[in-house]
Amino acid sequence: MILITGASGQLGRELSKLAAERGLEHAALSRPEFDFEKPETIEAAFQAAKPTLVINAAAYTAVDAAEANVEAATAGNHAGPLRLAQLCEAAGIPFIHVSTDYVFDGEKGAPYVESDATAPTGVYGATKRAGEIAILAACTKAIILRTAWVYAAHGKNFCRTMLGAGRRFPTLRVVADQHGTPTAAPDLARAILDIAARLTQTGWRPEYRGIFHATGTGETTWHGFACAIFEEAATAGQKPPEVQQITTADWPTPARRPADSRLDCTKLAQVFGITLPHWRASLGPIVKQLLVLDPPA
Ligand SMILES: NC(=O)c1ccc[n+]([C@@H]2O[C@H](COP(=O)([O-])OP(=O)(O)OC[C@H]3O[C@@H](n4cnc5c(N)ncnc54)[C@H](OP(=O)(O)O)[C@@H]3O)[C@@H](O)[C@H]2O)c1
Repeated sequence: MILITGASGQLGRELSKLAAERGLEHAALSRPEFDFEKPETIEAAFQAAKPTLVINAAAYTAVDAAEANVEAATAGNHAGPLRLAQLCEAAGIPFIHVSTDYVFDGEKGAPYVESDATAPTGVYGATKRAGEIAILAACTKAIILRTAWVYAAHGKNFCRTMLGAGRRFPTLRVVADQHGTPTAAPDLARAILDIAARLTQTGWRPEYRGIFHATGTGETTWHGFACAIFEEAATAGQKPPEVQQITTADWPTPARRPADSRLDCTKLAQVFGITLPHWRASLGPIVKQLLVLDPPA
């Protein structure tokens, strides 16, 4: 029995869908029945599901709002996941948790490896990093996947925001000096359930424990991502806007983002034999799904 938390989110929905497609026994929980801000729900959900594996896709993900909501971000990214990790430890089961490229400050100038020093630039990244440390200290069978720039055909994400803005405005200004890699939620869900399958096949192995980077392959900027979204949308009949390049300084946000948070995903390939698809290859089907849901006028 796999307990999937955050089932209403981008990743959680894809995990639940794929688990159902693969015929995996699972319980997919969202708020209010599973809420990190109500610790009693964590324990109750765990005891009711009696899981053999927990996949935590629940998190406080509002990067800018976190700056003013430290308590909620801490509950969602640190204290709550820690409680889940402790329950997994007590039950002797593996815990797969998801973290972020925002644990880095983006100053390295090359893709980050898992052993690089962290230096979060905001509350979101800091609480996610505190969660990583706490989980690793509490749980022997912990697997933490750091991902980035997640998007799906549902939920709140850059791809949907761009498609909507592109309809309303003839010109868009998009940040061109932040580098990273978009990650399609279905690709990440597949990687996670492939790891789960591996755990079933081999049983727990010491090399599975720890942090793994797990983003799409390749790299771009938010501007490059936006242009690719509109290329895909144009093939489905949406007139593309002009996408102008701006700098981070032109688009101030409450939380500072890393300028270059590319993640080196070699360790995931070496230990689990998993490489996520190139970000550009995964974009088309998701843009098309979004346009089916909301067709061009
Ligand atoms: N999105 C990104 O670009 C990105 C980048 C790097 C890493 N990540 C990480 O990837 C994971 C999945 O992200 P996502 O994009 O799927 O996020 P998402 O779409 O924002 O979904 C977050 C999920 O967590 C739930 N949640 C929020 N606060 C909670 C709380 N206090 N207690 C219990 N559940 C709570 C949400 O429930 P409601 O629906 O009720 O709000 C939702 O189900 C997270 O760990 C995130 O930190 C995401």
